[in-house]
Amino acid sequence: MKSLLQNKKILITAGPTREYLDPVRFISNESSGKMGYAIAEALHQFGADVYLVSGPVTISYSFPEEKIIHAKSAKQMYDACLPFFDTLDIAVFCAAVADYTPKTNYNQKIKKIENEIAIEFVKNIDIAFEFGKIKKQHQKSVGFALETNNVLDNTKAKLKKKNFDLIVSNSPNKDEGFGYDTNKICIIDQKLSLKSFQLKSKQEVAQDIVNAIIEMYNPVEI
Ligand code: CTP
Ligand code: CA
Repeated sequence: MKSLLQNKKILITAGPTREYLDPVRFISNESSGKMGYAIAEALHQFGADVYLVSGPVTISYSFPEEKIIHAKSAKQMYDACLPFFDTLDIAVFCAAVADYTPKTNYNQKIKKIENEIAIEFVKNIDIAFEFGKIKKQHQKSVGFALETNNVLDNTKAKLKKKNFDLIVSNSPNKDEGFGYDTNKICIIDQKLSLKSFQLKSKQEVAQDIVNAIIEMYNPVEI
């Protein structure tokens, strides 16, 4: 079964992005990259040809450095992913990409002034959505969703909007999701059938996600 992944070209995005205001300040989020790296390591162990586009992370990992493409901003992450879109077999969009970036990135440090300041933001490109638009029949994509309310409806809407084959839903609760070593997920497929999992280590969660990917190629008969 696992050999189904052998020679598959897989792109994974992981970690946060940083959206710079000036040379020393940025807007970011709490993503540690642990989940994305765990998935990349699991897929790599099964013999897949895995490329990891990673935002800035400080975790320790065993994934081969030469297959990591480092990106800081959402724009850099998109630029790093784009060359893979045409030839990849599977994309796993695990990164917590910033939705907005400051309209102006000052090349000198912003100085403190007497008054308040306002920062204008512009929308970032949505990497998963862009891939979903041009995805070929044989290409699969897996997305993530983190919702605080209307979890199921919002997650299903994201699956459709971004043309994912699977979407993994996780929550920002304690011990789940951002920064923690454990996660509690649901996986929803294109038929909107849902599988819930217990709280587990991110390595075990990665195995569950890899199994769900394998099942897409070889659906279990009911
Ligand atoms: N994603 C992406 N590029 C972006 C934003 C999101 O590739 N610029 C991907 C994420 O990696 C994830 C999925 O899209 O797989 C859903 O991300 P999420 O932030 O939950 O959804 P959004 O569409 O950004 O909506 P919102 O943040 O408003 O819930
Ligand atoms: Ca978002």
